[in-house]
Amino acid sequence: MSESVRIIEMGPRDGLQNEKTLVSVADRIAFIRALVDAGLTTVEVGAFVSPKAIPQMVGSDEVMRSVASLPGEFHVLVPNVKGYEAAHAAGAKVISVFTAASESFSRANINCSIGESLERFKPVIAHAKTDGIKVRGYVSCALGCPYEGEIKPQAVADVAKALWDLGCYEVSLGDTIGVGTPLKAKQMLRAVCDDVPVTHLAMHFHDTYGQALANLYAGMEEGVRVIDAAAGGLGGCPYAPGATGNVATEDVVYMLDGMGIRTGVDMAKLLAATNAMSRLLGRPPVSRVAAALNAKAKRASSE
Ligand code: HMG
Ligand code: MG
Repeated sequence: MSESVRIIEMGPRDGLQNEKTLVSVADRIAFIRALVDAGLTTVEVGAFVSPKAIPQMVGSDEVMRSVASLPGEFHVLVPNVKGYEAAHAAGAKVISVFTAASESFSRANINCSIGESLERFKPVIAHAKTDGIKVRGYVSCALGCPYEGEIKPQAVADVAKALWDLGCYEVSLGDTIGVGTPLKAKQMLRAVCDDVPVTHLAMHFHDTYGQALANLYAGMEEGVRVIDAAAGGLGGCPYAPGATGNVATEDVVYMLDGMGIRTGVDMAKLLAATNAMSRLLGRPPVSRVAAALNAKAKRASSE
């Protein structure tokens, strides 16, 4: 396997978008600063979506402005031209458009069909091109849908190809509800790779059934080298009932460190960032590695 993997940190966006506690703009900025300091230099920091749909992401403009000067690349979600204009005004240099391989999920999440979403992205991507802004694309429900169940690999490939053809530089494949298993992940990725170069794919796996690391490993065997993950295993989507968080960044870094693959992440600093957010949310991180390291530190301090 090659020597390095790029981690896209999702904690401040996917991680917080479904939390009951509304985390303040100042605390979100502090979280992002701590993540960047830990070596996570690509971070999705917010979303320019309807404040009625996702109140947790209100203030993303302030967040974006505040972190823009930090050393790193900061992504924001954008569903339409209205969101694009706000993201551009806030200084975003990378935006992510998002759709799904399932019609039902697309309706629930962004209130339109898959085809309509792609039409909405056309003017967004045209503006982005003029303004020199990079566009990433997401395909949700790549390994299953909360409403439709099984999703065919070809359906994922079709949407991934459409995003690629529209001009997205990278397509992130979301196991939104964390139901995938390694063989399924491989089959889905092989179908997508027929249409989008593997070097332009990312894996965005939620960990509901505890399969995310195994699925990532399987995807790495297929050649994918970009992984979306969230500090502490935070995350979820209000339109993905029953789904838990993203694969935890700590768990991914621990696995990759063990394989001798570079991530540039300082685990102690990442753990400190996760623990600080955990205290704000009032519960311990779900990451197994974070829990193990916290327990180890507790034992050491009581000796
Ligand atoms: P809509 O209702 O179809 O849009 O929503 P509309 O154009 O008819 O506008 C309705 C209202 O929303 C209007 O306000 C607009 O101004 C406002 P009102 O007149 O009622 O006061 N509006 C906006 N406000 C702020 N920013 C905007 C914007 N657009 C319209 N950009 C829309 C369509 C997509 C906006 C809405 O459905 C929405 O915001 N949905 C939220 C989607 C979302 O954020 N989901 C979670 C993220 S996706 C995810 O988690 C999956 C992912 O992690 C990958 C994976 O895990 O699979 C990426
Ligand atoms: Mg997600």
